[in-house]
Amino acid sequence: MAATVTIPRLWDMKEKQEKIVAVTAYDFAFGQLADAAGIDMILVGDSLGMVVQGRSNTLPVTMDEMIYHTGMVARAARRALVVGDMPFMAYQAEPAEAIRNAGRFIKEGGAVAVKLEGGVSVSPMIQAISSAGIPVQAHIGLTPQSVHQMGGYRVQRDEERLVEDALQVEQAGAFSVVLEGIPTAIATKITQRLKIPTIGIGAGPACDGQILVLHDLLGLSQRHVPKFVKQYRQLAVEVRNGLGEYAEDVRAARFPAPEHCYD
Ligand code: KIV
Repeated sequence: MAATVTIPRLWDMKEKQEKIVAVTAYDFAFGQLADAAGIDMILVGDSLGMVVQGRSNTLPVTMDEMIYHTGMVARAARRALVVGDMPFMAYQAEPAEAIRNAGRFIKEGGAVAVKLEGGVSVSPMIQAISSAGIPVQAHIGLTPQSVHQMGGYRVQRDEERLVEDALQVEQAGAFSVVLEGIPTAIATKITQRLKIPTIGIGAGPACDGQILVLHDLLGLSQRHVPKFVKQYRQLAVEVRNGLGEYAEDVRAARFPAPEHCYD
């Protein structure tokens, strides 16, 4: 098995221009599969509010729910670095609360690092959490927890602000930054300016790594698939067909067959 992915290893990958592969996962089964597939970083994203809980946005997700899911994924990961996503209102109010909540991801959830959304405005929280010895991944550009402020899930194009956000989160001590929903040219400039790795989602190919929501890339959910997603499988179709065949077999008394029965 290849060596465990650590934060210095991610920095080394940027230096050597080796792409970092990241994906979200929310439970033990998919955590194990992602790890076995050689994924470098698994994010237990608050996107679980939408793809697992069926909500229309990520805002209602709670700390307890995030810790519960992070624990499942952390128990599965042997090699991949596990990042827990801090939910809405777990870090925005004040640095002390941000440190305590980040600490829960490490102590109770078994994560190695946490992620939070925002740039300049959350720099004090990034600084506070990382000073407590907890690695922080920042997330700028299209930040889904600010959906109401953005007026929807919109590509962010204010170059000056995006560059400032990126420089500030690096300065505050983030080990990496997710760039979401940013034009390729801006994401390229940010990636060149930063020492820490950029992980893109809808931010073009120049980022140091890429991340996608598991359910989008595997075709597991029936929600709208954004333009930036490449669907590598259509698992929803497979699952529906498998369950349909099972239902037909039970109704026609073809299952269980003799080989599934005890003498
Ligand atoms: O919650 C999430 O899954 C995320 C990724 C899309 C980066 O924040």
